[in-house]
Amino acid sequence: MLSQEFINEVKERNDITDVISGYVSLKRSGRNSKGLCPFHSEKTPSFTVYGDTASFYCFGCQAGGDVIGFIRRIENLDYVEAVKFLANRAGMAIPEDGKNDGLTHMRLRIREQNREAGRFFYRSLYSPEGRQALAYFHSRGLTDETIRRFGLGWSPDSWDQLVKHLRELGYKKEEILAADLGYSSRKGGVIDRFRNRVMFPIIDLQGNVVAFGGRKFTEDATGGKYVNTSDTLIYKKTNHLFAMNIAKNSKTRELILCEGYMDVIALHQAGFSNAVAALGTAVTPQQARVLHKYADRVVLSQDGDEAGQKSIARSIPIMKDEGLDVRVLEITGAKDPDEFIRKYGPERFKMLLDGCSNDIEYSILRIGKQYDIDTDDGRLHYLREVCEYLSGLGTLEREVYAGRIADRLGIEKSAVLSQAEASARRRLRAEKEKEFREMANSTAGVGNKINPDRSSHLRGSNAEYKLLAILFRHQDKLPGTVQKLPPEYFVTEFGRRIYEQFIDINQSGQEIDVTQLTPRFSETEGSEIVRILNSDEASAIGDLDTLIDVITTEHFKPKPQEAANLSEDELLMQMSRLKKLKK
Ligand code: UTP
Ligand code: MN
Repeated sequence: MLSQEFINEVKERNDITDVISGYVSLKRSGRNSKGLCPFHSEKTPSFTVYGDTASFYCFGCQAGGDVIGFIRRIENLDYVEAVKFLANRAGMAIPEDGKNDGLTHMRLRIREQNREAGRFFYRSLYSPEGRQALAYFHSRGLTDETIRRFGLGWSPDSWDQLVKHLRELGYKKEEILAADLGYSSRKGGVIDRFRNRVMFPIIDLQGNVVAFGGRKFTEDATGGKYVNTSDTLIYKKTNHLFAMNIAKNSKTRELILCEGYMDVIALHQAGFSNAVAALGTAVTPQQARVLHKYADRVVLSQDGDEAGQKSIARSIPIMKDEGLDVRVLEITGAKDPDEFIRKYGPERFKMLLDGCSNDIEYSILRIGKQYDIDTDDGRLHYLREVCEYLSGLGTLEREVYAGRIADRLGIEKSAVLSQAEASARRRLRAEKEKEFREMANSTAGVGNKINPDRSSHLRGSNAEYKLLAILFRHQDKLPGTVQKLPPEYFVTEFGRRIYEQFIDINQSGQEIDVTQLTPRFSETEGSEIVRILNSDEASAIGDLDTLIDVITTEHFKPKPQEAANLSEDELLMQMSRLKKLKK
């Protein structure tokens, strides 16, 4: 267990704006800063860092918390690890506690099992039973040297050969399940996750095997084309890139991003040691961040099919937001880089790489392919769509490409530009509206789910939120307020719980801050609390007494259905009580 003093010191030594700047490019305005949210994809910033309350909140995706909560989310760590991560960042010594937490131990056990499994699959591939799997790799043009370098393997055609092996090495059932190397059978046993598949280990930047992909390689095999390790304590699919452990050592600041395991391996074998693959379809912001650590330019080399093109379209803005220079490679004459290299050889691939278009040229080309610009109708539709696209670009880029498009269509450049500007205005308005709606949702819709009493007690709940925000800034007023307003008077259960935690923290002599509060609530509740405490309209100390009155009144106000059931005497009593309060 980490002490509260230690956690407080970690928080103090890690300025939240400073820490977040390492991940998000922030624009300061006063004590607060804004930027593009790293937890969801957006074009206009709704991610806010509040300097004076040392917290952050995103109005787009409702993520919020303190500096520890930020690190937890972005680095995918548990609470204790996030604190240690920040302690390290500030150069603080971490207090030793021999027993450590169970999670750290489990992570170690998962890493060890994966290493064992990797060896086991490799051995099996070169065993007599693995003959067919090995022949498959060879038939795809892989050499034994490549197989060794990537640690490829074969999972035997058996129900539980790996599980048995791991059990013999002393791994418990829960540990095997936690590594996702096995799953529970209906009879209560544990079955191998991967059976009769060629295996691709996924290795992290430190060289640990963290997951596997297994491809079926015979026509009659059952199941999907690939089976992959699900997320575990040491693996989050959306954060990893296949072969990044090798590609990070390549000399250039350029990476080739492919779709599949086989593409990456074929490229490496052909001498392109800077190829990696995202393990899903489109790149995530987290993956873009990893790419940017090792490269300034990324060449997208996806399959030529529709899925590949869709994934390009979704990946481009995410990578540009990260500040990467994006190129798109168009593969013709083959369905993917793997097939291209096999058919035409590495030199031709190098030529493709050298000639690849930037993302703007690529996008304009794609739009052009959809219309027949020899007809008036086709030109009109093309112009409309291409201007819509131009409207999302910077002014300089818009200038350059408007000229090219005008030339191609044989019209005035100014016509293209003015159309693009009209689109830009429309787009800006639509984005503003969307964000306004999101903001309204975050305060009403999501807020209501977290605080279900809110919709039927809007007045009381608003007063509670304001009161909490004021007390948060003026903590010396808390004891006096508690005298007049006991927690029972709160009309919503959620508001009351926050108030009770305020009192608890205050009585223990600590300062009430986001770091103290959020661990006492669920993650979504914690985010909502950050929003409530930072909301602007709520900082006038002079309102305190009025708010206490409103909450008290709301508390004693008979509920509509109750009023109907009250006897005349009771009703009179209620009313005189309310009158007293008003005075
Ligand atoms: P592909 O279908 O292009 O596979 O999927 P591939 O790796 O190029 O394999 P070959 O060349 O057909 O043998 C691209 C990537 O998408 C993921 C895998 O990471 C794969 O490498 N994928 C695909 C899955 O996770 N599951 C699937 O069922 C299919
Ligand atoms: Mn392929």
